[in-house]
Amino acid sequence: MATVFLNGEYLPAEQARVSVLDRGFLLGDGVYEVIPVYNGLPFRLTPHLNRLQRSLDGVRMANPHSIEGWQKIIERLVADNGGGDQSVYLQVTRGVAPRDHVFPEGVSPTAFVMSNPLKAVPESFKTAGIKAITVDDIRWAQCDIKAITLLPNSLLRQKAQDVGAQESLLIRDGYMTEGSASNSYAVIDGVIFTAPKDEKVLPGITRDLVLELAQSAGIAYREQAVSLAELQQADEIWISSSTRELLPVTMLDDKPVGSGKPGPVWQQVDRLYQRYKQEGKV
Ligand SMILES: Cc1ncc(COP(=O)(O)O)c(C=O)c1O
Repeated sequence: MATVFLNGEYLPAEQARVSVLDRGFLLGDGVYEVIPVYNGLPFRLTPHLNRLQRSLDGVRMANPHSIEGWQKIIERLVADNGGGDQSVYLQVTRGVAPRDHVFPEGVSPTAFVMSNPLKAVPESFKTAGIKAITVDDIRWAQCDIKAITLLPNSLLRQKAQDVGAQESLLIRDGYMTEGSASNSYAVIDGVIFTAPKDEKVLPGITRDLVLELAQSAGIAYREQAVSLAELQQADEIWISSSTRELLPVTMLDDKPVGSGKPGPVWQQVDRLYQRYKQEGKV
């Protein structure tokens, strides 16, 4: 049975209990992180913990642990759950208090961490690519905060699921922001385009690495959102996230993207990504 961390204790998942008055439960008042673990080593942990701090600052919540404190908790949990490849989920809520929109005073945050085996991405997602649909971005105006309030993302992801697609690409004011649970990219004439890191997208940790690797290989990129019309004409479309890594979208709204196969720029960057992981870099 998986061990989880809850407010200073390590215990079996089934025994972990949170009050019904927790503001995460009642108001969705919390933030989170998802961190991949390869061979027992958390991948890009410091950037994830820095982003956690940024999200906490964004919702005016105190961080219950230092960076080193979180590192120790995560290392212990990964080891207790058998090492290997895992996916760590970490959540902080504002804590337990009588229900009220106004922030409670003198309340400790609830800190929860669990780790599950990392779900392998189906091989066909890389050999054939995935299907995506375009949908209106109905989310709030602070998508740079990794808030647990995921109802819009969930509704949008389900729309893709309902039509046999693997991701929804979100369009706001005529431009692609990101995916429902991923950052997104379009390759046009050999240049990678991805939306800039503003309040309309999550500053993805995988996105940073993808751009770093592109730069190291001399592939041009622009942090500039593409319009829906440009997206529909793109040579390649990709999505990225910590658990799905970098995947090519080969069908968009039931039409082939470019050649309808994973494109050469994706192949090059994915090779660099896989090599980076295999070298045990963290
Ligand atoms: C809305 C959204 N954008 C982007 C991402 C990708 O972020 P990261 O690469 O840090 O996992 C996620 C990840 O879950 C997400 O939910």
